[in-house]
Amino acid sequence: MSRTASTQTSARLAHEEIRPILGSRVRNGKAELLGGQIAGEIRELLEQRGVLVFPEIGFSDAEQIAFTKTLGTFQSERDGDEVFKVTLDPRETRSAEYLKGSLYWHIDGTMNQVPILASLLASKKLASWGGNTGFCNTYAAWESLPEDQKAELDGLRVVHAVWASLFYYEPEPSLAKLKAFQAVGEHELPLVWKHSSGRKSLILGCTAQRVVGVSTARSAEILVGLREWATSERFSYSHEWKVGDLVMWDNTGTMHRAEPYDLTSGRMLHRTKLQGEEPFV
Ligand SMILES: [Fe+2]
Repeated sequence: MSRTASTQTSARLAHEEIRPILGSRVRNGKAELLGGQIAGEIRELLEQRGVLVFPEIGFSDAEQIAFTKTLGTFQSERDGDEVFKVTLDPRETRSAEYLKGSLYWHIDGTMNQVPILASLLASKKLASWGGNTGFCNTYAAWESLPEDQKAELDGLRVVHAVWASLFYYEPEPSLAKLKAFQAVGEHELPLVWKHSSGRKSLILGCTAQRVVGVSTARSAEILVGLREWATSERFSYSHEWKVGDLVMWDNTGTMHRAEPYDLTSGRMLHRTKLQGEEPFV
């Protein structure tokens, strides 16, 4: 475990690596996290490690909101709620249908100009089986590609559409349903995100519908190949939840997904978000 001195207080960030290139466990207690003095160091660690786990920290909703606000600009839900209930149990949410796409690798906010910076998920109730959350590092996946492949891919553009993700879990939707998803629109994004830090990451996920200017077969080959590469063992981490865990990820340099689970088990996570600070382009 390493400890980094804080310049503002005697509180120090205590953390340890989970995987060589993705994920760190933060060992500070509630008071130190809520005090805000190590917030800057947490943000730096998040950018370096992609995923931060606060094991069994047991935040209440109010504490989770307060902690999120120490880290950046808080982003409420569209309806004004500060906490979003992430569950596929239709008794608990009206978004169960939409959230089915979360079972497949994605980045949050590919339909927006500025995607959210980060999400924080707190586990309230576990699934009876399955339900890990998977993460992969899209900075490292890009950086580790052979140079000739990078040269071939850099500059490509990809059309993202929510309707593309519909076919992952409902291969034969009604036309009305397809049209409802298509009404969300499409969004053309670069395949490679050039960040203001100078680093680059891949923009992929189940909303990636097609690569612009290549054949349908070549487009599928590129998107499937890169998803396979970026989500391989080397770049990924699967978090097995305990009640009270808080997990935070850098949405600008990772993809994530929920792994299959018993949909009737009432699995419940509470999510807060940090507003994005960097547009895709
Ligand atoms: Fe998500």
